[in-house]
Amino acid sequence: MTRGRGPRRDRRPRDRRPDVAGPTPPATRALLPVRIFFGATFVYAGFDKLLDPRFFDASNPASIQAQLLIFSRVSPIGGLIRFGQPLAVPIGLAIAVLEIGIGLGALSGLAFRAAAWAGALLSLLFFLTASWATRPFYYGADLPYAAGWIALALAGHGGLVPSDRLIAWASRTERASAIGAARGPARATARAATEGVIDPPIRDRRTVLQAAVLGVFALIAASFAVPFRSGGSTRTALDEPGPSLAPAPSSGLPPSSAGPSDSAVGGPTASSSPLVPAARFVVAHVADLTKTGARAFTVPFAVPAPLPAGDPAVIVRLADGSFVAFDAVCTHAGCTVQWDRQDRVLLCPCHGAAFDPAQRGAVIQGPTNQPLAAIPLQVDAASGAISLRI
Ligand code: FES
Repeated sequence: MTRGRGPRRDRRPRDRRPDVAGPTPPATRALLPVRIFFGATFVYAGFDKLLDPRFFDASNPASIQAQLLIFSRVSPIGGLIRFGQPLAVPIGLAIAVLEIGIGLGALSGLAFRAAAWAGALLSLLFFLTASWATRPFYYGADLPYAAGWIALALAGHGGLVPSDRLIAWASRTERASAIGAARGPARATARAATEGVIDPPIRDRRTVLQAAVLGVFALIAASFAVPFRSGGSTRTALDEPGPSLAPAPSSGLPPSSAGPSDSAVGGPTASSSPLVPAARFVVAHVADLTKTGARAFTVPFAVPAPLPAGDPAVIVRLADGSFVAFDAVCTHAGCTVQWDRQDRVLLCPCHGAAFDPAQRGAVIQGPTNQPLAAIPLQVDAASGAISLRI
């Protein structure tokens, strides 16, 4: 009965995007704060890298080159990172533009799910590199970011799209380009496809188109950073580089340069009169440090302020046989510094900060400029017990 009357039209609605049509599912409404925060934060992080004059300066310890070098030593994908080290600058640029694109996608709704999955993958990459050595693992922010992006990708934007007009324009452009590019019978097929005569993978093509539009927007947005860089702009409010967004736990202890650092340096015989019994906060024994030269410990929760109760800490035996201890929370962004036995420094695996225990925890390599907080010790020469000096 339809012969001679043209092709039968598909009765299904042409726009079947579950993300756009119909009422907004409660889940996507509930996820809106996460989406806005993630989107804004990724845009911020991308511009932060582009505007930071240190980020592409190979001589700077905060540079992408220095970070890749550190990651190659501590990451489980270190071999892959070593392979990419010669391309550090393009990689840094790509990460910055990708972050901006992902953030814009989350905020605008363009290629939303693709952007969210890209955010999850990028966060996982950051977890395997920047946050890998963070202990305990939940101090690192990248894994929660990955989980959040996955939730957003699964939920979709639910129609909460501030740029509906943009999407409508993108869809029109898609249809126009499909018809315009076709010739002869192919042109008829394309027209039929756009009019719903056949069922093309239109959702896939729409995603590709939106992703392309998003990529162009990200590049345009990233290019705005160029004049600021070439104009010699120094860092503005965007003052903490690096992909890891872990907050710095407050140590409650002054940096060693401003604190009672002398009391932190004590030889094995420096068991001066304690105010509390030395055995109360014994954290190690001299013999513990004989082999490795350092020992990690957790500051007991019962210690009084200003000692950083509960913080990870480390005792180091100096070359002259004396002992020093430091709060191991990095003064840059809160990762846990680790003893590098070879170079005899305390090294932060997240962004490469290095501290010299022989110089009261002074910074010998950024990105931070704050020394580690010293923890005063006392050593009982008779028993070899090393305890906190309260
Ligand atoms: Fe960034 Fe330590 S947390 S260098």
